[in-house]
Amino acid sequence: MTRPRDLTGRTALVTGAASGIGAAVVTELLARGAGVVAVDLAEPDTSAGDAFAVVRGDVTDPATLDAAFAAAHRLGAGADILVQSAFGGTPAPLDEQAEPAWDRMLHVVLTAARRFDTAFARQTGAAGGAIVHIASPHAFGAVPGFSAYAAAKAGLLALTRAVAVEYGPRGVRCNAVAPGFVPVARNRHVWENPEQSAALLRASPLGRFGDADEIARAVGFLASPESSFVNGACLAVDGGMTAMLPEALLR
Ligand SMILES: NC(=O)c1ccc[n+]([C@@H]2O[C@H](COP(=O)([O-])OP(=O)(O)OC[C@H]3O[C@@H](n4cnc5c(N)ncnc54)[C@H](O)[C@@H]3O)[C@@H](O)[C@H]2O)c1
Repeated sequence: MTRPRDLTGRTALVTGAASGIGAAVVTELLARGAGVVAVDLAEPDTSAGDAFAVVRGDVTDPATLDAAFAAAHRLGAGADILVQSAFGGTPAPLDEQAEPAWDRMLHVVLTAARRFDTAFARQTGAAGGAIVHIASPHAFGAVPGFSAYAAAKAGLLALTRAVAVEYGPRGVRCNAVAPGFVPVARNRHVWENPEQSAALLRASPLGRFGDADEIARAVGFLASPESSFVNGACLAVDGGMTAMLPEALLR
């Protein structure tokens, strides 16, 4: 699919960029003409030449944040776009989850996002910028074992609105994308399980899973001038999954 070259001259910082949706976002932003700083614990597969830089590190570590913005200054005149996709953790029932694991999830998904957002807004000039948070349907509905993830993602949506309202006057827009189920290496145990994948597909009006590229295209839109009046929104890119009530399964 041909991509608009509407991010030429812009520099994007993408967290969680080494795999899955974050890696697809890197490809999308590069295709739209942006330079990209990829931040991740792991080494990204992509090697995209002069317009691409890698910062290996944990988003909760202030040194990673400093290195990421320093790389954005080397690549361009600082970051104009920030996409936050980093996430990791193990599901656990409410009464079994150890508090450090709960804290870690909130730290990676929410506290680190706030730090990157504030650092981003401090270094943007009059031209402003665009932030995109990768949220989740878990922000709207609960699944046993995912309380920390749900709390963190619901918090991320609250942060999306707070940033949109506080930084909007400086020309910084902030929006979220809530992807439906997207098969990636991390959730292979679900989509390779015939019963689990069939159950999930019944809950999808389009009858299929999403593709990381489909999420990345929505991120590209929210990062680009095409969405210049969109601020504080959450775009569900889930094939209609969160629009559907369980009663629909009876029809
Ligand atoms: N795949 C889905 O079905 C789905 C659905 C809804 C939302 N999401 C969201 O999409 C985003 C990307 O998830 P994904 O499915 O592509 O998973 P993924 O595991 O492929 O990608 C997550 C990336 O984050 C990195 N990461 C984890 N902890 C980090 C840390 N502390 N510091 C730096 N990097 C770190 C990992 O190394 C990995 O590369 C996440 O925010 C997730 O919540 C995914």
